[in-house]
Amino acid sequence: MSNFSLLVKPIWQPWLFWGGLTLFLALGISLTLWQLPMAEPYVRSVMVLSGNIYQGEQIFLLNCASCHGVAGVGQVGPSLINVASRRSQAGIIHQITSGRTPPMPKFQATPQEMADLLSYLNTL
Ligand code: HEC
Repeated sequence: MSNFSLLVKPIWQPWLFWGGLTLFLALGISLTLWQLPMAEPYVRSVMVLSGNIYQGEQIFLLNCASCHGVAGVGQVGPSLINVASRRSQAGIIHQITSGRTPPMPKFQATPQEMADLLSYLNTL
């Protein structure tokens, strides 16, 4: 019995150990990266609020329509029709607050303003 386990162990055990570990780490890392934006305090504070679509439309017309067109059909900036199906909610929030894609400016909105804006964008 002990002879048998001595013979078999070195073949499958390292494979199982390293394979399992790699799979576990890969799963853990990708799950963390996926969830990380949602864990940000600002994003979280936006997501717990329910937005007012009408308020969101006013914010959009004032700040965004010059580039994205009335009703988000696109002008200087790309069309935002169906943007909620292309991008995650956290991704849209980052797009709006980061200013990483000039000429789109960086916007600073209160969580409630952002929730309103998001609820409007989700209807486009
Ligand atoms: C000065 C022009 C300008 C203004 C004002 C502006 N944007 Fe943009 N926006 C852009 C441009 C240009 C892009 C494309 C950036 C890129 O992807 O490189 C963009 C991209 C985006 C995207 C990503 C679209 C996608 O398909 O991934 C979102 C969402 C967005 N804008 C929302 C907004 C919102 C909401 C506002 C108002 C708060 C706003 N933008 C104001 C120019 C503008």
